[in-house]
Amino acid sequence: MTNGGKQNSDLVEVLRTRLRCANVATFNNGTTALLLALRALRLRGEVVTTPFTFPATTHAIDWAGLTPVFADIDARTGCLDPAAVEAAVTKDTSAILAVHVFGIPCDVEALGAIAKKHGLKLIYDAAHAFGVEVGGRAIGSYGDISMFSLHATKLFHTAEGGALTFRDASLAKDLHLLHNFGIADEDHVAMSGINGKMNELQAALGLCVMEVLDEEYAKRATVVKRYRDQLRNVPGVECMLPGPGVRPSMQYMPVRIGPESHSDRDAMFNGMRQQNIMSRRYFRPLCSSIEPYAHLPSAAPQGLPNAVGLEKEILCLPLHGGLKDEDVDRVCEVLVAGSAK
Ligand SMILES: Cc1ncc(COP(=O)(O)O)c(C=O)c1O
Repeated sequence: MTNGGKQNSDLVEVLRTRLRCANVATFNNGTTALLLALRALRLRGEVVTTPFTFPATTHAIDWAGLTPVFADIDARTGCLDPAAVEAAVTKDTSAILAVHVFGIPCDVEALGAIAKKHGLKLIYDAAHAFGVEVGGRAIGSYGDISMFSLHATKLFHTAEGGALTFRDASLAKDLHLLHNFGIADEDHVAMSGINGKMNELQAALGLCVMEVLDEEYAKRATVVKRYRDQLRNVPGVECMLPGPGVRPSMQYMPVRIGPESHSDRDAMFNGMRQQNIMSRRYFRPLCSSIEPYAHLPSAAPQGLPNAVGLEKEILCLPLHGGLKDEDVDRVCEVLVAGSAK
């Protein structure tokens, strides 16, 4: 039921095909997968990362015994700004941990060049980016390791779960040890591992979800198109979606409520709540302002103006294949009315 059974190996095969990466490993959740990725790379010192993410990204760095160093984001994409990353690199930096926020790809070419120039490992938190491609290239093929969360809130999921794709096939051995208590065989415990295994029930669920994935993706694409069409000319309401050449993840529907809108993001959020519409204010609070990390020098808001600004503007609208046209219209009506008054 738990140690690399048939369901798990079948799922790994399917993920290899879907994510178009030869090296794939599964875990009990995305956070553990990310933590073990950092451990497997044997990092030391500082990791340059984004404040505009779910707390698990920063926690994984901290739990790996490393120091997060926050760099600012590009306000257009919500992802790390390569220039800010390079400015944050010191002699103690060993890696960059970037996030493809809402499935919008980071500037993978620029980050790859910075990592190469400074001899850093490059890890992507691709929790939101299952199935994303950049110019036909699979998102998990960039950097040293990418982490995909397979939590129930994601397009493809195993209820709880996570997967890593990685470039260097020799990492497979350490990743396996790390997620199984470090046990090498009956007589040897080779390293300090934890229990990070995906179980057979999770994997079996994943194989079932995989069968309906394309259908769900297509339904969501219709929903996203309707949102875009309805919101095209609403002052101060901008759909934040990946640019041309990117296959989107269809996992989030972020809109940016800018100053041209009469009502601000929080007013829109509250307006939706009153009508029982569950939008989300991702990512609030920023990881740089939460208790464990707010004391870090790099967490000072003056150094992170784009993240501080975007945190106040993003609203993620409901997105799933079960939404009907009239549901989408009801959400858009709140935005249209809020924009005008
Ligand atoms: C950006 C990001 N990283 C990491 C995680 C953690 O993934 P998991 O819930 O699978 O542990 C999430 C969860 O949604 C996330 O959004």
